[in-house]
Parts: sequence; C-alpha cells; structure tokens
Amino acid sequence: MNYKVEKLKVNYKTLEEFKKFKEYGLQELSMLEDLEANIIENDSESPFYGIYFGDKLVARMSLYQIEARFDRYFEPAQDYLELWKLEVLPDYQNKGYGQSLVEFAKGFGLPIKTNPRVKSKAFWEKMGFEPVHYDMERDLGENPLAWFPAGVKEQTH
Ligand code: COA
Repeated sequence: MNYKVEKLKVNYKTLEEFKKFKEYGLQELSMLEDLEANIIENDSESPFYGIYFGDKLVARMSLYQIEARFDRYFEPAQDYLELWKLEVLPDYQNKGYGQSLVEFAKGFGLPIKTNPRVKSKAFWEKMGFEPVHYDMERDLGENPLAWFPAGVKEQTH
C-alpha cells in the first residue's frame, strides 16, 4: 500500500494537527510563534511531509537536506537527508503509513540518516537502515542509522 505523501505548509491548521503527535516540541512551538508574530507567512514552506486520512493528518516526518560540506557522517562527504520526527498516530500504525513516508524519502536518491527512538529500531531495520559507525563525541546519546541508495559507497566514519 502506498499512500499519497504531501509537503506540509506552515499554517494554523497544520500546527493544530501537529499537537496530536507525541514528538511535539520546540520546533513546532517556534513555527507557531513565528506565524503569530508574522515573521513567517501563512502557508510558508516547512520541512515536514505528511499523509492525510480524509482531512486528518495521521503520519508525518521532517526531512532536511544537509550539504556535503557539513557532513560528519559519510566518507566521502556527500549531500544527505536527515529524517526525523517520523510518527504515525496510534490508531493508524501498522497500516503502511510509516513505510510510505520512508519510501518517499528514499525517492530523492540521497543517503538518509535518522536517529530512531529506541522502540522503533526493528522498523528501521526492516526499512533497510543500518547503524552508523559510532563516534562517542559526535553521537553522544544518539544511535544514528543510515540508508544508502544503490550505487552509493556504503561507508561511514
Ligand atoms: N517493530 C517492528 N516492526 C515494525 C514496527 C515496530 N515497532 N512497526 C512497524 N513494523 C513493521 C510492520 O510490521 C511492517 O512490516 P511488514 O511489511 O512485514 O508488514 C513494516 O514494519 C512497515 O510498517 P508500517 O505499517 O509502515 O509501520 P507504521 O506505519 O506503524 O510506522 C512507526 C512505524 C514506528 C513510525 C510508527 O508505528 C510510530 O510512529 N510509532 C510510534 C511510536 C513507536 O515507536 N512505537 C513503536 C512500538 S511501541
């Protein structure tokens, strides 16, 4: 099953939908403040993608492209995607929403790095993600996983 993935705009409706997700935090609050203070316009671009069931947002992720010159993970350094805040609302889990979002991210053809929550490790393994070689200083408190498009050298430092 492949669900339609949409790029989410920053507006009051989207931010209201975000409140249903467990990983609602500083990033969302600052988007709301910026919107209220007119620092950002209604319907401006956000790093979030989501899937709707009817008009209800049931799954989302944030996807951000990191330029090679800031890369601290791959050897040789390359552009990659940082995926975070992947979350499916409880009633909609295990129906393919999470996988649809991950596959959408893979479609950009860049390596993807993520920091999974402890409980979702098995899901990421199923999606073909592998542990990044651990660097104590860099990864303190994190357990980064990565996925590589076919043909990209699978090497991390
Ligand atoms: N552990 C192991 N496998 C998992 C899994 C998990 N926690 N969640 C999903 N899978 C498997 C599914 O069984 C499915 O396998 P299949 O293709 O063989 O049927 C595959 O991964 C794709 O699953 P999907 O339906 O796309 O998963 P999802 O839409 O529920 O998204 C999460 C996965 C983890 C992003 C989502 O469940 C979520 O946000 N969970 C919230 C919190 C959390 O991490 N929960 C973990 C369980 S407590």
